[in-house]
Amino acid sequence: MKVVTSLQEMFAERRMLTEPVGFVPTMGYLHEGHLSLVRRAKQECRSVVVSIFVNPTQFGPQEDLARYPRDLERDLRLLAPLEVDLVWTPTVDEMYPPGYQTWVTVEEVTRPLEGAMRPGHFRGVTTIVSKLFNAVQPQRAYFGQKDAQQAAVIRQMTRDLNYPIEIVVCPTVREADGLAMSSRNVYLSPTERQAATVLYRALRAAEQAYQAGERNAERLRAVMRQVLESEPLARVQYVSCADFDTLQELDEVRGKALLSMAVFIGNTRLIDNIVLEP
Ligand code: PAJ
Repeated sequence: MKVVTSLQEMFAERRMLTEPVGFVPTMGYLHEGHLSLVRRAKQECRSVVVSIFVNPTQFGPQEDLARYPRDLERDLRLLAPLEVDLVWTPTVDEMYPPGYQTWVTVEEVTRPLEGAMRPGHFRGVTTIVSKLFNAVQPQRAYFGQKDAQQAAVIRQMTRDLNYPIEIVVCPTVREADGLAMSSRNVYLSPTERQAATVLYRALRAAEQAYQAGERNAERLRAVMRQVLESEPLARVQYVSCADFDTLQELDEVRGKALLSMAVFIGNTRLIDNIVLEP
């Protein structure tokens, strides 16, 4: 497993890789969710590249960039046994040198949900993913369903910019009690960690209502809100029942839909979602 930092080394090593190349972009502090993407890439590709870069441009001014957890040594220890070919750890200075002024923006699909709550977030995500794609030039890139809107935005960007890359979206990996794995879960105190299970419980309650025949989107959102309100440490930012592709809120569920939510547990903002299959 080679570890490189500069773009120049990255380009040099890329030329040595056998195609198809699979790419897993991450911000590090790796957990089983990230590793599941790497394993899937290993299964499907001749070479696998993982990037680790806490991308400053996708964090808002009031967000957790400064305290985002980082531990490169631990990340490399987790990746080594998976036989990753190349790990790229770019620097902020090389990705965004002084005078940097080029951005990738995706329109409609970035507006609702996370885009509405985190202005500029997806502009940062699409810009860095585009820069990473240009350097790594993978045949396939792996993303998690955990960040459902991010996956939809990347799919749209890939299509619109004609990247010859297949976007593979992998299922959300959860803790035994249902909490979706996230690098940000380390922010939770033991009491908050217990309270955080309410997100998945709320999603499951709405999923069960759907399976029992409920198709009214507002009633499905109400089921989620009701479960979330039973947890005193939870403060709901949004609950959504939206079209899977456009992420527009639905009145009635007909095709594939996404139940999603953003909830503060104490000061920690958590997101989670479940897909409703028709
Ligand atoms: P990060 O939060 O590190 O996540 C990297 C990838 O892992 C994303 O595709 C994310 O959806 C996936 N992932 C996270 N938790 C998961 C879980 N519990 N189960 C399955 N997959 C999970 O997402 C980012 O970084 C950044 O926005 C990035 C795309 C790297 C651009 O900076």
